[in-house]
Amino acid sequence: MEGLGVSVIEHLLLHQKENPEATGQFTRLISELIFSAKIIAREVNKAGLVNILGLTGEVNVQGEQVRKLDEFANRVLIYRMQKAGVLCAMASEENADIIEVPDNLPRGSYLLIFDPLDGSSNIDANVSIGTIFSIYRKSDERSYVTLDDFLRKGSEQVAAGYFLYGSSTMLVYTTGNGVDGFTLDPTVGEFLLSHPNIRIPEEGKVYSVNEAYTCYWDEKTRRTVEYFKSPDNYRGKPYRARYIGSLVADFHRNLLYGGIFMYPADKKDPAKPRGKLRLLCEAAPLAFVVEQAGGAATDGKDRILDLKASELHERVPLFIGSRKDVEMATRLMQGDG
Ligand code: AHG
Ligand code: MN
Ligand code: MN
Repeated sequence: MEGLGVSVIEHLLLHQKENPEATGQFTRLISELIFSAKIIAREVNKAGLVNILGLTGEVNVQGEQVRKLDEFANRVLIYRMQKAGVLCAMASEENADIIEVPDNLPRGSYLLIFDPLDGSSNIDANVSIGTIFSIYRKSDERSYVTLDDFLRKGSEQVAAGYFLYGSSTMLVYTTGNGVDGFTLDPTVGEFLLSHPNIRIPEEGKVYSVNEAYTCYWDEKTRRTVEYFKSPDNYRGKPYRARYIGSLVADFHRNLLYGGIFMYPADKKDPAKPRGKLRLLCEAAPLAFVVEQAGGAATDGKDRILDLKASELHERVPLFIGSRKDVEMATRLMQGDG
C-alpha cells in the first residue's frame, strides 16, 4: 500500500533470494547497526545543547584529536555490536587493534569495520557527518579470529554503507545487489525506503578536493585537478567546486548528483605519504557502494576493491565517483591523459 513505507528489514527480506546474506544473522547485524545509528543520531542532533561537543583531550591511533562525539559513537557501536551475537570481531578507526567479542558473549561469523564518526572536524559546526561500515564474513571457520581476517580485498565485502546525520538521517548501503537509500522517519523511529536502486550519473558536474594542499601535490596530481577546473575538459566547461570536509557528505552528494571526490597522496605529513583516508574503514566500503551504483573508485592507479590492506589503518589516495570522471582522473594520474 502506498505511503506506508518499506523498512530496511522488510526490504532485506523482500529481496531475500538475491541476498544470500539476508540470513537471520545478517538481518540481526543490520538491525543492531540501525539501533546504534539511532542512538548516535539522537546525540548528534542534540550535541549543541549538552556539553558533548569539543575535545576529549585525547589523541587517537590516527594521531588525531578525539572529539567527545567520536568517542561516544565509538562506544555505542562497540557496546551494541559486541552483544549482537553475529560478530566474531570488529575494528574501528578509533582503536589501534581489532576488538574481539569477549568469550562470555555469543559470537557469529561476521566481521565489522567502521569509522564511527566521519567528518569529525565538522561536528561542532553542525555540518553533516556520518558513520561508515564494512562487513566481511570470516574467511574460514577457525575457532579464533586474527588480524589477517581483516586484511582482505574490498571485493570480499558482503555489505557496506553509511549513515548520514544531516538535514535528515539516512542509511545508504549495498549487499552486492545495487544500492538503496533509507530515510529515518523520527515519528515512527524507522528507516524507510526513500531512494530505491540509486544510480550515480555516468559523468558529473562537481569536483571535490581540498585545494589548500596544492603545494603538497606532485605535478600529475596538480594537472589532474586542473583538468576538472578547465573549460577544455570533455564537458567543455569547468566542474563546480564542492568540498564539505566530511567524506560521507561529499560522497553522498556526488552519488546522487554525479561528480568526483579526490583525496590524493600529498606531502603535508611525512607519516601519511598515501594521504589521510583509510582503506578499510573509508575507501573500501564507499568503493563497494559506488561500484554497485555504477560508479568507480581507484587510488589513482588501481581499483580500490582490488587492494589488499597490509595493516589495519592503512591509508590510501582516493578518486571516487562518476565512472567517466574517475577513469579520466586515473588516466591523468598515470600520465596518460
Ligand atoms: P574522520 O573525521 O573520520 O577523521 O574523517 C575525516 C576525513 C573525511 O571525512 C574528510 O573527507 C577529510 O577528513 C577532510 O580532510 P581535510 O580536512 O584534510 O580536507
Ligand atoms: Mn573518516
Ligand atoms: Mn572518524
